[in-house]
Amino acid sequence: MKISVIGAGNVGATTADALAFRSIASEVVLLDIKEGLAEGKALDIMQTATLNGFNTRVSGATNDYSKTANSDIVVITSGIPRKPGMTREELIGINAGIVKTVTENVLTHSPNAVIVIVSNPMDTMTYLALKSSGLPKNRIIGMGGILDSARFKCYMSLALNCSPADLNAMVIGGHGDTTMIPLTRLASYMGVPVSHFADAEALNKISADTMVGGATLTGLLGTSAWYAPGAAVASLVDSIVNNQKRLFPCCVYLDGEYGQKDICIGVPVVIGKNGWEKIIELDLNDTEKAAFAKSAEAVRSMNSVL
Ligand code: LAC
Repeated sequence: MKISVIGAGNVGATTADALAFRSIASEVVLLDIKEGLAEGKALDIMQTATLNGFNTRVSGATNDYSKTANSDIVVITSGIPRKPGMTREELIGINAGIVKTVTENVLTHSPNAVIVIVSNPMDTMTYLALKSSGLPKNRIIGMGGILDSARFKCYMSLALNCSPADLNAMVIGGHGDTTMIPLTRLASYMGVPVSHFADAEALNKISADTMVGGATLTGLLGTSAWYAPGAAVASLVDSIVNNQKRLFPCCVYLDGEYGQKDICIGVPVVIGKNGWEKIIELDLNDTEKAAFAKSAEAVRSMNSVL
């Protein structure tokens, strides 16, 4: 199993590290345009092999896509990250051109790969990659909802003073500060609705903190986050590689589901060896449906900038 990660910045390198650390693939190739960066980070990761106990071969390449040939999965993290005060949407001008070119280069050498998009604004970049490549819709997956859901469960576990592992909670909609929808009503602590353990005010705060989860980190770090994004990509890739059929909120192409057409946006999907295999339609209430429609409208207007 060969996985290529395009972009050896913080998110790309952390993704490669997480893939190797968890022994998800036999081969990981990291690629960047900056001379030596991917080679250096790959070698650094390889030198953790005996310490962390993995056999994955991690290598780096500067702009040479032939090194990524015949990848089963390609993760695209290329582009500029946001700076404090910026929204993900403000990156569209620069990142659209980069993501389109990278997708073309990737598919020249790995025509059968499943493509995972991480570059922001992620929903629009996923739509762009799908439309410009003409690939079957199941092979293009935007990673955002898994990360947002991990942040949702993190804040919830702190508020409830419980293990995040005992929480079930999901964020759907766009991967933007104002477009994501933490589904608090459906969140549970071992199957018991979280409203049983926290009042409305506490739950609203968890939801608000989740929505600006990425922006909070950008403010603290001066650039966007990497540990949780890298771990989130690794979980997604693991479900593809091992055909786990995990149910993750991911950005995928809707063709009538959730009342939307011709858009890529976050909904719960089953992830297996063929990419995303099935969209699960949740029974949303009227408020949640309205929030989803509003989120889709915002993503659609961003797509129109393309
Ligand atoms: C974040 C970026 C990766 O949410 O979108 O941290």
